[in-house]
Amino acid sequence: MSVNKLHLIYFSPSGSTEKVVRKIASAIPALPVETHNLLTPASRKNRYDFGPNDLVIMGSMTAGKLFTLSDELFACLHGDNTPFIGVITYGNTYYGIALKEMLKRAQGQGFCVAALGAFVSRHSMDTSIAEGRPDSRDEAIMTDFGHKAWEKVQSGDYELHTQPPTSWTDWELGRQVVAYREEHPDEPYALPKDCKAKAISDDCIKCGTCVRNCPVDAIDIEHKTFDLDKCIGCWGCINRCPKHAITSTSKQVADIMKSIGTAATARLEPDIFM
Ligand SMILES: Cc1cc2nc3c(=O)[nH]c(=O)nc-3n(C[C@H](O)[C@H](O)[C@H](O)COP(=O)(O)O)c2cc1C
Ligand code: SF4
Ligand code: SF4
Repeated sequence: MSVNKLHLIYFSPSGSTEKVVRKIASAIPALPVETHNLLTPASRKNRYDFGPNDLVIMGSMTAGKLFTLSDELFACLHGDNTPFIGVITYGNTYYGIALKEMLKRAQGQGFCVAALGAFVSRHSMDTSIAEGRPDSRDEAIMTDFGHKAWEKVQSGDYELHTQPPTSWTDWELGRQVVAYREEHPDEPYALPKDCKAKAISDDCIKCGTCVRNCPVDAIDIEHKTFDLDKCIGCWGCINRCPKHAITSTSKQVADIMKSIGTAATARLEPDIFM
């Protein structure tokens, strides 16, 4: 079956996952490309159908598993024996069961998963963790991954021959979180409300970037308030604000990030499965 169109799909609140998907796609020789950015609520109301002659590269950010909204994300994607390259990004701590989950969900939606990759990106909750990632070393691995996955798909081999494991961590609290995710694979990821508290400073110029890129329409920029019942804690508004006017005000998050910063110091490398 020959592939005649490449589809790039991503859920990337702070932008790293989009970059990773695009870098991998750039290793695939000229094909018409269609992009589906699933960040906005309107984009997830569409239905996306793919056939056996399409190739999908899908990327999502993760939190020890796929992020909040992943039910919605996969519900709008429909494959028909469509070859699928799945990538996840994480902040050099652990990706837990995220790749396993992506494999199961993609297969459940009619895709043939030919390749999977986990890539490290700066930690969106604290960008000093894994700062500068992905870097040139990561990008070389992404290019090689893109080439190999493309060759595999072209040869008609749509089967995954190596299975993604649970990615553990040496950090005790992280180990406990990942063990919990493994025991409750179907429980959706949700950040406690306390951890989503944020403030907007006087530096705000009301450009609307945060509002346009919020995955759940939780920002009232006129009143500088957040609907924390709706907010999924994706950190997109904080990282995308050109004036750095949005900050987390959660003490709990500050403590957790301090602890992660101390624990997640060793450089982790991309994990590839084909
Ligand atoms: C609420 C939240 C939870 C996260 N949990 C983890 C985690 O468990 N492990 C990890 O390594 N990175 C974690 N991250 C970091 C992101 O996975 C990482 O920065 C990702 O590349 C962000 O993708 P984006 O730039 O496309 O939004 C978390 C980020 C957020 C906002
Ligand atoms: S992105 Fe920043 S500057 Fe723009 S409206 Fe939002 S808070 Fe204000
Ligand atoms: S308000 Fe919440 S859901 Fe919306 S962009 Fe900010 S962190 Fe993400």
